[in-house]
Amino acid sequence: MISFHQFLAESVFFSILVRLLLTERMGKKTYNGYGALAKRAIAAGLIWSLVIFDLAANNAAASGQLSVEIKMKDGAERTLQLETHELLALDSVALTQVYVPYVDRMVEAQVLPLSAFIDFLELPNDVSLLANSYDGYFSVYRPEFIDSFEPYFVLAFTERSDGQLQLGDSPDLGPHYITFERQPEKGSDVLFDPDNKRPFGVNHIQIGAYEDLMGPLYSGALDDVTDVVASGREFYINNCMSCHAWEDKELGGVLSNRNSTILAVHARYNADYFKDYVYEPTRFIPDVLMPAHPHYTDAEIDAIAAFLMKSTEDDS
Ligand code: HEC
Repeated sequence: MISFHQFLAESVFFSILVRLLLTERMGKKTYNGYGALAKRAIAAGLIWSLVIFDLAANNAAASGQLSVEIKMKDGAERTLQLETHELLALDSVALTQVYVPYVDRMVEAQVLPLSAFIDFLELPNDVSLLANSYDGYFSVYRPEFIDSFEPYFVLAFTERSDGQLQLGDSPDLGPHYITFERQPEKGSDVLFDPDNKRPFGVNHIQIGAYEDLMGPLYSGALDDVTDVVASGREFYINNCMSCHAWEDKELGGVLSNRNSTILAVHARYNADYFKDYVYEPTRFIPDVLMPAHPHYTDAEIDAIAAFLMKSTEDDS
């Protein structure tokens, strides 16, 4: 798909070129014979090479990019840049019916299980995967989750020949959408915050040992914690962290500009505001991107607050 900006830039560009050709033809100066012909031929050649170059660039834009950052226990690090069409070419890609909440129906799609993706990278199956979306959303996939829920990348919808993950008026899910088959209710014992495991717009993946990737949430003052703080940490990781970054580290979502340190200040000095905000953020900002959390109990929000307060305690 050509974007509006591209379209505008191209229209201006082509009209200038066409104008050049026309002035050449109708201008006062008359070129006789080969000179004029050669000039026109060069201009026409230039236009066509640009058109061809442009088509190639557009095709590249239609297939998404996935940057992958691998951090292994032995300190080995590597990064690679993959394209959707490379993933589509893998043997483990399957055709399946996917429920797409944004259009509220089943859609036939080509999918790649996260477990197969880990195999493809030749990594052991006890690694964890962190998914980052272009809009600043963040999701965590631990081995236990990958085993029991079998999440997959949605790479392409059969009904879209151009490879875009966009249907009707719903948001564009591209370049990659991660989801899983089961449909647990929010707040259920099966999975408390299922939305976190269905990110769209995924374009950057971090893979490695869980304790390496998420180390800052388990070290320092958070090394040895009470059960309440530990449960607050689970809620935080599987929900709040989708949008709120961890301290000043490059870890977690950045959909909100309030990081965990700021949230901890609210939890400590402004406990009522913290709780009211989590329950019903629109009371404070009508069009806020943060969802309401009616499925949390007071005790569960207190546990998140306890975790945040602990994280900013001095561990010395
Ligand atoms: C979908 C994204 C998203 C999720 C999930 C989310 N938040 Fe937020 N949160 C926001 C946004 C956006 C704001 C508004 C501030 C801003 O624009 O950065 C916000 C604001 C807040 C504030 C007010 C901060 C202030 O300085 O006034 C608190 C407290 C808060 N969030 C706590 C939480 C907690 C606790 C959770 C998990 C239970 C959570 N949020 C989950 C996006 C999110």
